[in-house]
Amino acid sequence: MNEAERRDLTSEGRDRRVRELSERVAEIEQRLIPTGLHVFGRATSDGECADLLRMVASFDRPDAGSRALPRLISEGLGASVSHPRTGASGEDQLRTRERVEAILREAISIFLREGETAACSWLESEANVGREASRPTFALLGEVRSRLRTNGELDSLVAALRGRYVEPGPGADIVQNPKVLPTGRNTHAVNPYGVPSDLAFARARHVVELLLERHVRERGALPRAMALVLWGLDNIKTQGEGVAQALWLLGVRPLRDSLNRVADVEPIPLGELGRPRIDVVMTVSGIFRDLFSPTVELLDRAVRRVAALDEPEEMNFVRGNVAAQAESGSCAFDEAATRVFSNAPGNYGANVNFMVADSVWEQDDALADLFVTRKCFAYGTDARGRRVEGREARAAMRRALSRVEATYQNIDSFEIGITDVDHYFEYLGGVSKAVEKSAEARPAIYLSDTLSREAKVRSLAETVRLETRAKTLNPKWYEGMLRHGYRGVAEIESRVTNTFGWSATADAVDGWVYTEVAETFVLDDVMLARLRALNPHSARALVGRLLEAAGRGFWQAEADVIERLREIFSELEDRIEGVA
Ligand code: BEZ
Ligand code: MG
Repeated sequence: MNEAERRDLTSEGRDRRVRELSERVAEIEQRLIPTGLHVFGRATSDGECADLLRMVASFDRPDAGSRALPRLISEGLGASVSHPRTGASGEDQLRTRERVEAILREAISIFLREGETAACSWLESEANVGREASRPTFALLGEVRSRLRTNGELDSLVAALRGRYVEPGPGADIVQNPKVLPTGRNTHAVNPYGVPSDLAFARARHVVELLLERHVRERGALPRAMALVLWGLDNIKTQGEGVAQALWLLGVRPLRDSLNRVADVEPIPLGELGRPRIDVVMTVSGIFRDLFSPTVELLDRAVRRVAALDEPEEMNFVRGNVAAQAESGSCAFDEAATRVFSNAPGNYGANVNFMVADSVWEQDDALADLFVTRKCFAYGTDARGRRVEGREARAAMRRALSRVEATYQNIDSFEIGITDVDHYFEYLGGVSKAVEKSAEARPAIYLSDTLSREAKVRSLAETVRLETRAKTLNPKWYEGMLRHGYRGVAEIESRVTNTFGWSATADAVDGWVYTEVAETFVLDDVMLARLRALNPHSARALVGRLLEAAGRGFWQAEADVIERLREIFSELEDRIEGVA
């Protein structure tokens, strides 16, 4: 907000702004922040697991018969936290939410110190939560806690190396599915014919509504076409939430056969859908293609089915786009309806991450072209029912991307965010850059956070800001990393490089992010000395990345800051080369 805007604020506007800021702070506060790396074979301590238990306790778990503690607490207090827009004023809501959060934290800490009964009694006296209501949740927490204390990872590894049996277990994160504990089991995947599950399909509806509402709010209309990134592991963990989101956008529902396998789709009538069908370009990872072969076919079939529906084009963007393509005579229906793309058979990855990390691109076009070159292989079935398994379709992909107005990926893990690994900017950043080139306009870029208590859709820039505050610049996060010494510094550097990846692919990083990274890790002499002592190589890489951000125009840094960074870079280099 600039000076003039600040002056013009009414007192109501000022209150609203304060509330927004306060909500944002609460959002950062409530993130689950890993406070260090997992050490193979080492069990989690009670201190480390308090935050985790708080998150586990924050969701209803019908299968365990347990309810979310924040919900129980707010019901007990007579407040409605899950529907914050109704009833109470914004200020009251904030106060209630803070109170619920404080009670939750205290309940977990009593549980850890004194056990289940004490925590149940305390919640009863403090927030009128009946003991019988909270007991199943604390029983679940008790199980999670005791499983976190055991660790069979080393034994399992040794058993596997000896060719012995390793007990199977599901794959997900602990918050999503506490049954992943104990760790050290043989992760089993998912039956692709079960995807999407009924639950995943139901959850996806809400997220798609939020996504489209947000696009309308920001850009004034529904997107006529979107590009989605689908990953294998994510769809395993959520039983196909990403797949279900694609189906909802197209306006179709999965159909099951007599063996309860998802075998087909049927269009949801427009009257029931209540909006146009959105055209969807799907770029799927090599892992998704390999694990979800029937799903790939299903998605391709869904697009073709929708494209062939006899509906007005303003209510069916897929039909409109495919018909326009076919009428222009540039290609046949088959080619015009191709929407599912992946790598060539046997290949994986878009490699945009390597190009960025190695600083080997000059123009943005190189990143866009690399993405398309790696990912332009079509999968599905052709008009004669023959399987298409990785046919090169560069022109079809470019045409499909040229109509895209928004790109999107579902985030479904508490453990890994968009700056934790390089694959998010590799895929979502890569496809966004490819759209920018093909459509000659930058798409809106969205991510969803379907695991928060209330599912949220955020823009890419908002997500980068949130992760920067919650992790990169948060002492709780970086001190946790630094406790691991050499590897910890490497993690900090890698996060900065992954953040830089969002500048490179989507120009989505505010200048203050680089300024504060420089101030926190490099321009602070004590911190710099620590990084240098622990891992001078990563320290040098981090400083080099900041200089590169400035050099490429992603960061308008002050001249004296650049000068100082250059000096530090060369000191680090001398040290590594043994000159100093
Ligand atoms: C996947 O699960 O599809 C995936 C995992 C890591 C990187 C990229 C994709
Ligand atoms: Mg990797």
